[in-house]
Amino acid sequence: MFITSIFDTPQALYAATRNLMQMAAEHAQDGPAAILVPGGNTPKPLFADIAANPFDIAPEFLLAYTDERHVSADHPDNNHALTREMIAALKLASRQVLRVETERSLEDAADAYDQAWADFLDRGGRIPLALLGLGTDGHTCSLFTLEQIRNCPKKRYAVAVERKQGHHRITVTPALLASAAHTVIFATGQDKAPMVDALTRDPNSVAAGLAAAQCPRVSLWYAPGN
Ligand code: 6PG
Repeated sequence: MFITSIFDTPQALYAATRNLMQMAAEHAQDGPAAILVPGGNTPKPLFADIAANPFDIAPEFLLAYTDERHVSADHPDNNHALTREMIAALKLASRQVLRVETERSLEDAADAYDQAWADFLDRGGRIPLALLGLGTDGHTCSLFTLEQIRNCPKKRYAVAVERKQGHHRITVTPALLASAAHTVIFATGQDKAPMVDALTRDPNSVAAGLAAAQCPRVSLWYAPGN
């Protein structure tokens, strides 16, 4: 069951999202706790706000990514690169950033990210918050189709995604998302309205909804403006 919240402005949505991140980051006291953030354009104002107004981080806090394009770390399309200023402002050590090692081959990068998550969960790591973007086609992470999601290996936390167009990807799987205590799919702009409506009406008919189907708590946050 999705809880859909419509915000009057994107600024209000970003303020609420920042508050969730801050609470998760400050309360990472009893063991490793990770927040997953997406790539794309939607999170950019959020990252910029946190970079300008950072909050305290518990030593066991980890920043991680829902997915990554298989491009070099300094490529403009690299999702980790979007968070560099925020990482610096939060004073995150490199051990506190779980990035996809795109310097490896596609399959090796996916295997390494999968193993990193397996190790994190094996040592009692928790995911208090997963922030997911929403494509105009209903995808999230780099999970693009219902068939791809249904075929995702159940015991994998990350997989490679070969694309016919654009960069190949590495993405977390529904199995990893299912470990998140609270999953927030956030979107802004009129172009996302049809998918927000479809998710609210019939979540499993949309890739993002099916990807989050095993998540214990899913919120859909939307602001019509840009
Ligand atoms: C990515 C994302 C992807 C994104 C959606 C929405 O690497 O692109 O993780 O899932 O969240 O494509 O992108 P926008 O926020 O740019 O609309």
